[in-house]
Amino acid sequence: MLSTFVRAALRPAMVKPCSLVKPLVLVPERCLHQEALPKLPVPPLKQTCQRYLAMLEPIVSQDELEHTRQLVQEFLSGGVGERLQKSLERRARKTDNWLSEWWRQSAYLDCRMPVAVYTSPGVVLPRMHFQDRQGQMRFAAKLITGVLEFKRMIDSDTLPVEYLSGKPLCMDQYYQILNSCRVPGPKRDTVVNHAIGKSSPTHITVVHNFQFFILDVCNSDGSPLTVDQIYMQLEKIWNSSLQTNKEPVGILTSQHRNTWGKAYNNLIKDRTNKESVRAIQKSIFTVCLDAPMPRVSDELYKSRVAAQVLHGGGARWNSGNRWFDKTLQFIVGEDGTCGLVYEHAPAEGPPIVFLIDYVVECMRRTEIVRSPMVPLATPQKLRFNITPEVKRDIEKAKQNMNMMVHDLDVNVLLFSHFGRNLPKSHKLSPDAFVQMALQLAYFRMYDMCCSTYESVTLRMFKYGRTDNIRSTTLDSLNFVQAMEDPAKQNTERMALLRKAVETHRKMTHDAIHGQAIDRHILGLRLQAIEDLTSMPQIFMDTSYAVAQHYNLSTSQVGSKTDCVMCFGPMVPDGYGVCYNPMDEHMNLAITAFNSCEETHAAKFAKAVEDALLDMQALCEDTAKATQ
Ligand code: COA
Repeated sequence: MLSTFVRAALRPAMVKPCSLVKPLVLVPERCLHQEALPKLPVPPLKQTCQRYLAMLEPIVSQDELEHTRQLVQEFLSGGVGERLQKSLERRARKTDNWLSEWWRQSAYLDCRMPVAVYTSPGVVLPRMHFQDRQGQMRFAAKLITGVLEFKRMIDSDTLPVEYLSGKPLCMDQYYQILNSCRVPGPKRDTVVNHAIGKSSPTHITVVHNFQFFILDVCNSDGSPLTVDQIYMQLEKIWNSSLQTNKEPVGILTSQHRNTWGKAYNNLIKDRTNKESVRAIQKSIFTVCLDAPMPRVSDELYKSRVAAQVLHGGGARWNSGNRWFDKTLQFIVGEDGTCGLVYEHAPAEGPPIVFLIDYVVECMRRTEIVRSPMVPLATPQKLRFNITPEVKRDIEKAKQNMNMMVHDLDVNVLLFSHFGRNLPKSHKLSPDAFVQMALQLAYFRMYDMCCSTYESVTLRMFKYGRTDNIRSTTLDSLNFVQAMEDPAKQNTERMALLRKAVETHRKMTHDAIHGQAIDRHILGLRLQAIEDLTSMPQIFMDTSYAVAQHYNLSTSQVGSKTDCVMCFGPMVPDGYGVCYNPMDEHMNLAITAFNSCEETHAAKFAKAVEDALLDMQALCEDTAKATQ
């Protein structure tokens, strides 16, 4: 979670009890807060063009840059840019957020790659040490109760508004993560939120040994089940799903979206299948009770769990124990594995991790108290009729999943030497410090820098999602080159680090206030498509392609819980890097693809560790010298 986010203190115990069946109603306070949020601005065209050229400087050749300079000049002076800008400004006047729907579609719903590995992030939670199966079930029951408490806070509008730099943030994403599911379409997917407009669902889905169950979490009078009751229902589920030879229907959801779209239509031709799919889609969230995975050394354990949350480990293991379209899936493995995977279209990482922090805190306080014996119906198992066509689709999905599993290279680095307190003590922004370490690591491995993406929040604006901080700058390049130049003194290197960090901080500030370049450039391109004008040359240019090819795709997702988020790389020859800088240590999850000979997650993790240590030494040496 963002460290600079200020939240009203959360006291779960004081959350007003209210029925889970309460439909989502926007009460005046939330409406007032939401309505008062500013609209996302459209940045000035000239400013974006200038910043675009400056951003290209460290990542393209002089010739390419010169060519792009001319194209940008034509774009500005030829009238095309102004026309598109005017259309964008009109769109901004007419909509709550000129970007949000375009972004949801172009970044997520139009994307045809599988959601597993390619777009859905996972979260690795601390390992649990269950003594027995009951331990696992108790833990799962507490976790479910914690999430339902969180849901009550959403339903009753008692979720505290978050603030950043004293400004309230848009809370809409919290209202999108429960009761929702992605649905594949032939060209574009949709996300259906079942709490909106109708009465809220009262069941979750639980999957064990590839078999899905409806677990109603409310009694007939609408009161929530106790932890003990949920525990007993989970026991029943477990006992009704002991067979391990069931078809892993859920693995279909891991397919390329067009393939899954076709398989989906095959699957729901059958009425029983359609009803089962609908029950999963409508559920509040899913809990995956995973089978144990092959044991690995303690050193590799977190990396193994990161892979498991991202893809389930393959057709033989837990990949069929998922419905990857479901927005929220919690994973509780028999072997103590604990985490979640979420479908990215409805929300960013920070609200998800905030939910985790809340649930972990709830679980700490929750005692299982034996409930009076109220007979509860056995949770309903969802039936699937496996026709030969569906069977063929499942076999194809298994093969593809196994290929994805082999291709994903994951390394979780538990960096124990220092956390964000160290850069702070040297008056440096911790986020910028980590970003510079990533720049240094990349430069040392490849002797060049690359196009880098760092997500930054736009939630100061109504329905804001993210923009991009381009961490590679001329200042970051000067710093990493100085680190590799034996002729440079530490004082000079330190001055260059400070300058690079300051530049990064300034870009972060601009981005948070809606003045970054990437979403604006995307808007201009989409506007050209919408206006049916021919595509401006700046979008057909090599520099544009280089800038969009993010060899480093990064994000800070901080939390109170000692966890780490992870996601796959954006490009075949790139890295995905997600980090959680805690006060005295950091967790980083690094991914790459094995099919690319140039990338290697463990080597990059080592390079990042070395870079962080060298930067610590640099700060400490120069501080000593000035004492
Ligand atoms: N000296 C001392 N302390 C400093 C400092 C300096 N020069 N600069 C910053 N700090 C402090 C800050 O005040 C803050 O203090 P706090 O811990 O008391 O709150 C802390 O260091 C952290 O600040 P910093 O590291 O600079 O950045 P940040 O935590 O604000 O995070 C972003 C920056 C870009 C990650 C964040 O703004 C953001 O947008 N996050 C969203 C990411 C996202 O949505 N990802 C999507 C994933 S799916």
